[in-house]
Amino acid sequence: MTPAAAADPGEEEEFIMEQDFVGRVAIVTGGGSGIGEACAMLLAARGAKVLIADRHLDAAERVAKEIGDSALPYAVDVRDPVACEAMVQAAVQAFGRLDIAVNNAGIGGPQTPTGQYPLDGWADVIGVNLSGVFYSMRAEIPAMLATAGGSIINMASILGTVGFAQSVAYVAAKHGVVGMTKTAALEYAQQGIRVNSVGPGFIDTPLLAVADQEIIAGVSRLHPIGRMGHATEVAELVAFLASDKASNTTGSYFLSDGGYTAQ
Ligand code: NAI
Repeated sequence: MTPAAAADPGEEEEFIMEQDFVGRVAIVTGGGSGIGEACAMLLAARGAKVLIADRHLDAAERVAKEIGDSALPYAVDVRDPVACEAMVQAAVQAFGRLDIAVNNAGIGGPQTPTGQYPLDGWADVIGVNLSGVFYSMRAEIPAMLATAGGSIINMASILGTVGFAQSVAYVAAKHGVVGMTKTAALEYAQQGIRVNSVGPGFIDTPLLAVADQEIIAGVSRLHPIGRMGHATEVAELVAFLASDKASNTTGSYFLSDGGYTAQ
């Protein structure tokens, strides 16, 4: 549509923005809750078909039902590389291609000093938050190459760049996600795949499960803006990175942290 045909350029701009992902196919791991759910909802609202992949099929089904026909729920445990390959095949089989992957599934893990950190907790957190992202990317990249490119967004954390006491596995995994993101970005920059990571501050999702008002107030004070973030705010950043508007952006790490890491 030419500018002259637009009754209101502001509305026109909004309309174009909201249709960014028509014809695009996305996978969102951990799409059954919190940040992943918000990402899946936003990508679908802007026209994408979305595979909602989650360890909890019922959670994925709930989100897919809310979205409607353009979403498909899928059960996956990202700790399993074969399951990650099947997840990508399911998206391609259902929707014909893969353009966007939000590798977001994650867990918090134990809160214990490093000297006593439980070994099974280490294995769990590294398995989901680090290996899960690697297995997902490893399966997604060949599918994206088949259609000449795509955009991968890996969910890191503020703890991908700073430490946090009693969370050695989580911090190690998230720093690893930032590094893997840069590496894959270098490898595929010439082949049309952009790879970026996102670092949310504390976000009010079920992962934190902080019902206690005192804890919420304490966590909020850690952020210069004086509150925790919302999953929808992270989703807006993810949607930007997934879109062609970010066509010159790869290998980067973007914060949505209310100023947490600026201190
Ligand atoms: P959440 O607990 O609300 O959602 C995580 C989802 O991942 C759940 O639906 C869960 O079933 C799924 N999941 C867990 N393990 C899985 C596995 N092995 N395979 C497939 N799915 C699995 O958590 P939230 O807060 O939405 O977190 C999403 C991502 O954002 C995580 O990677 C987390 O580390 C990261 N993040 C969260 C922050 C927060 O404050 N909530 C801050 C920074 C990063």
